[in-house]
Amino acid sequence: MAGVKLEKLEKTYPNGFKAVHGINLDIRDGEFMVVVGPSGCAKSTALRMVAGLEEITGGKIWIGDRVVNDVEPKDRDIAMVFQNYALYPHMSVYKNMAWVLKLKKIPKDEIDQRVRRAADILGLTEMLTRKPKQLSGGQMQRVAVGRAIVRSPKVFLFDEPLSNLDAKLRVQMRVEISKLHNKLKNTMIYVTHDQVEAMTMGDRICVMELGRIKQVDSPTNLYNRPANTFVAGFIGSPSMNLVEAKLTFDDGTCYANTDHMHLRLPDEIGHKVKHYDGKPVHLGIRPEHISSRLANKEATDNFFKTEVFVVENMGNEVYVYFTPGNNQYIARADPGLQIKSGDVHEMWFDTHHVHLFDRETKENLIHSPKTK
Ligand SMILES: Nc1ncnc2c1ncn2[C@@H]1O[C@H](COP(=O)(O)OP(=O)(O)O)[C@@H](O)[C@H]1O
Ligand SMILES: [Mg+2]
Repeated sequence: MAGVKLEKLEKTYPNGFKAVHGINLDIRDGEFMVVVGPSGCAKSTALRMVAGLEEITGGKIWIGDRVVNDVEPKDRDIAMVFQNYALYPHMSVYKNMAWVLKLKKIPKDEIDQRVRRAADILGLTEMLTRKPKQLSGGQMQRVAVGRAIVRSPKVFLFDEPLSNLDAKLRVQMRVEISKLHNKLKNTMIYVTHDQVEAMTMGDRICVMELGRIKQVDSPTNLYNRPANTFVAGFIGSPSMNLVEAKLTFDDGTCYANTDHMHLRLPDEIGHKVKHYDGKPVHLGIRPEHISSRLANKEATDNFFKTEVFVVENMGNEVYVYFTPGNNQYIARADPGLQIKSGDVHEMWFDTHHVHLFDRETKENLIHSPKTK
């Protein structure tokens, strides 16, 4: 097994487009690292460079203790699972998994042993004689993973392997891949644009935007201590509310002033942003930290009256949209409150949970932006 290290990794495509801007990432031996970001942020480009399928135009890639920049893909001890399973349609499940080992001239007995072990791990034993067209999408995906397992690679690379599956199957396969990691304990790098997949699967998550890494951290830290507005807005669904505000201090108490609100912030937040007195910031607050005052009747401040614009009922929770001034907010409320669109409510902001970001650098002012 081996860790993977990216050191000032860069990619400029032949047409001159710079897709990766000098990224550093240290993936530990045995770790499940999820790389997440919107489409086009260069997740696949970075992963393909690790696999050796894309030339590296700057920096280094380490797999274990060797630099692999000039090592052929087949000699890198990695196996990659793609979004389209790329199974051979005319071969049985068994042959699909055995094929690459046959090419490597591995003895027949050993091939048989490896294929049966992979089939056992993935629950494919009963399907070894079937052809791909006799399999469901989820089963085909498992065969694609099986083809990677039989190679006993040091590192597994996954590029959006679940995107072609329907929502329910995706959830199921998500759990299966997590279980697979628990069983095999190999280093795995898993690329996805889906933040829910990232949050539920990763030991750590690397968030990318436009060829740069914005934060590398545990799911909990990304959610509770986002390093910047990009991570704050990207992780979590519905997204964190982010609005422009100006900080002022009155008698030592810090207030965040938006175009319609005057929020009193707790002292433990105020004392971290004393140097922002009079300055513009971005104020962030997650939907679960805004509710109707009906849910907190004792609140004496930090609420304001507004018309509810839209209500989305999810069954177990309700998303309440309201648009005071130029801002739009989403709150997550209890269905028991029976909030309806068109109602006028006092919306209450739990300011213990606000985030403040520098307007220029977009960095978090309350939590150290230092990533782990
Ligand atoms: N062969 C190529 N030549 C030029 N630009 C490319 C090439 N392949 C990808 N890109 C560009 O590089 C960026 C990153 O692409 P990609 O790695 O596929 O992103 P992701 O996997 O995150 O969706 C995109 O802007 C894409 O258009
Ligand atoms: Mg991609």
